[in-house]
Amino acid sequence: MQPPGMRRMMPASGLLLALCAAVLAQDVPPYTEDCRSGTYPPAGPTFQGLAPWYTVNLDQPPSERWKKIISDKKQPLMAMIQQIKDLVKSIFHSEKLIDLVDTKLPALVGKLPPPFDEEIKGIAEASGQPLGEILLFNIFYELFTVCTSVVAEDMSGKLFHARNLDFGLFLGWDVKNNSWTITEMLRPLVVNVEFRRNNKTVFVSTSFAGYVGMLTGMKPGILTLTMNERFSLDGGYIGVLEWILGVRQGAWMSFLTRSVLENATSYEEAKTLLSKTVMLAPAYFILGGNQSGEACVITRSRQSCLDIWELDLQKGQWYVLETNYDHWKPPLPIDDRRRAAMKCMNRTTQKNISIATIYDMLSTKPVLNKLTTYTTVMSVSDSKLEAYLRDCPDPCIPW
Ligand SMILES: *[C@@H]1O[C@H](CO)[C@@H](O)[C@H](O)[C@H]1NC(C)=O
Ligand SMILES: *[C@@H]1O[C@H](CO)[C@@H](O)[C@H](O)[C@H]1NC(C)=O
Ligand SMILES: *[C@@H]1O[C@H](CO)[C@@H](O)[C@H](O)[C@H]1NC(C)=O
Ligand SMILES: *[C@@H]1O[C@H](CO)[C@@H](O)[C@H](O)[C@H]1NC(C)=O
Ligand SMILES: *[C@@H]1O[C@H](CO)[C@@H](O)[C@H](O)[C@H]1NC(C)=O
Repeated sequence: MQPPGMRRMMPASGLLLALCAAVLAQDVPPYTEDCRSGTYPPAGPTFQGLAPWYTVNLDQPPSERWKKIISDKKQPLMAMIQQIKDLVKSIFHSEKLIDLVDTKLPALVGKLPPPFDEEIKGIAEASGQPLGEILLFNIFYELFTVCTSVVAEDMSGKLFHARNLDFGLFLGWDVKNNSWTITEMLRPLVVNVEFRRNNKTVFVSTSFAGYVGMLTGMKPGILTLTMNERFSLDGGYIGVLEWILGVRQGAWMSFLTRSVLENATSYEEAKTLLSKTVMLAPAYFILGGNQSGEACVITRSRQSCLDIWELDLQKGQWYVLETNYDHWKPPLPIDDRRRAAMKCMNRTTQKNISIATIYDMLSTKPVLNKLTTYTTVMSVSDSKLEAYLRDCPDPCIPW
């Protein structure tokens, strides 16, 4: 049996268990706080700057598209990959796995659907990093992301969609610095990307340099979309393993997110694609449309859609909010970001909801925590996407 609180920690190795126990046993400073207000426009120690903007031209061959970003972000990307390799080595006490990554994974890149195969090859070439390691880096995001996403509608029917991206759970707690090493190293890789085709914006996204899937994005005037990880027993690890071993039916979750952002032309079409496509791992998709009532949380297993939770203004349901638990089930007591977030949403009320008050909610511990890498807020009708790099100085909850 798993001890309570361990379910978010998938690679159940002894080392990680020990790490987790050490974190839990630390003195517990005020990890939760009253709902923040007046945090927007962002300033102060929880705000580490704006994510820089880049353009990716979809008219270029896939192998060329990421060159500019990679040439700017080569150093932090190399540092991050080295860190992932060190972690894998220390967890498995062996160099073997990395050897496998270098010898076996490159052949698998060709099994990825276009344009992802060629894009990853292009990134490996531009960064000078081994192909297998770039693929490993891409797989990592599918596995270690915990998040908070919300779509809310104001009194005029305008929709706001926002998220905190919390990355790096259990990937090396830095005792000296009281921080997650990987989370720290990820911050310099956060970029906003405008994807263009025929000289027009197709969609915009907050992403990571070197990563070709999407976790957060907007098609201006049409839809907004974020993905949160869903942990379950038929979880991602099995799907990823199957994929490596050659069973390749399901879609990578973040590739699906990207292809919806790239290709869907309406909220309804996006909803259908996100609920019907067979995937490698379970996930939550948080989708917003462009008019009143159009927002939902889609709870997915690998094969099917378990639930679609929609806005219902008549019933007073003016927002949908997702962390990493099925909305009809209680979250883990040691990870109740949901209650904290909902408390702040309820206190704000629909009358006063705005980018500023949503940012307030996302700045309240433990919704903001040591894993929080960025906060993105989007307004589809204003074609606005803002991404802020975050930090959570002590005292702050590790997740
Ligand atoms: C609405 O939100 C703003 C921004 O945080 C805050 O300053 C103001 O007091 C709030 N108004 C009400 C009526 O709660
Ligand atoms: C701790 O953090 C500081 C600043 O955030 C950084 O300069 C330093 O390298 C970090 N130390 C370790 C051991 O990672
Ligand atoms: C793209 O738009 C820019 C500025 O609007 C214009 O100068 C350029 O000629 C356009 N390029 C193409 C291929 O249409
Ligand atoms: C909303 O999206 C649909 C496409 O799904 C589009 O036809 C419509 O014009 C959009 N409405 C607004 C107000 O932008
Ligand atoms: C927030 O309000 C909703 C709807 O009224 C309610 O179901 C929920 O329990 C409230 N949550 C908190 C934490 O206040």
